[in-house]
Amino acid sequence: HFPVRDVHHHLVSSLMEISAHAGAIVVTIDGPAGAGKSTVAKTLAQRLGFDYLDTGAMYRAVALLARRHNLLEDAERLSMHLDTAALEITGGLVRLNGEDVTGLLRDPEVTRGSSLVAAIPAVRAFLVRAQRQAAQGRSIICEGRDQGTVVFPGALCKFFLTAHPRERARRRLEDMARQGKELPALDDLERQIAERDERDATRQDSPMVPAADACLVDTTSMTLEQVMDHLAV
Ligand code: DC
Repeated sequence: HFPVRDVHHHLVSSLMEISAHAGAIVVTIDGPAGAGKSTVAKTLAQRLGFDYLDTGAMYRAVALLARRHNLLEDAERLSMHLDTAALEITGGLVRLNGEDVTGLLRDPEVTRGSSLVAAIPAVRAFLVRAQRQAAQGRSIICEGRDQGTVVFPGALCKFFLTAHPRERARRRLEDMARQGKELPALDDLERQIAERDERDATRQDSPMVPAADACLVDTTSMTLEQVMDHLAV
């Protein structure tokens, strides 16, 4: 028996060692909104010296494109727009056809739209291709809903994070307060999150489910450090 912290240290150094020898490895972190995926993925990427890919931001960028062209209800024309769209995601910045749209992606309407466009097979096919391309030849932590199931089924290490919806809403509210945003009622936020989860989990194409070989972590009553420790065991 040895301390969890040591186990984590071993996991991190083994992943780094495998990466050094094998070249490129993928770690996937999936789960619903507010389960702590982004924080954990960024922290893990930093500790490992790996790249980090926020695939939710890609769905959000497509939602923004759809809203701008009034195509949220028109899957066919939206997929035609995608054929000529340039989506770049580097160092936390998202560019859509050359424009930095990073600051627009957390808008509540874009958030709702992201879960709508995410149910369109042509959108998913387009983004899955972009995600595999982004991971090509590098060690990377990929965060989303389908990274361990559909995009990288052969990933070396897979996590699925969950937390009670109330706690997830509470965390979102805290994020928003930190950013000085106008705060919705906790009940409303919880309802919006539950609606989005329901849509993400029940869509036909690539629903949000844990991969059979993913490590499940319920983060409801955990701090970031506790989650990081837990990922190692
Ligand atoms: O992680 P996020 O909240 O930024 O994701 C926004 C939406 O995009 C989410 O409601 C579902 C969708 N999504 C998806 O379907 N597949 C992914 N890999 C990532 C996000």
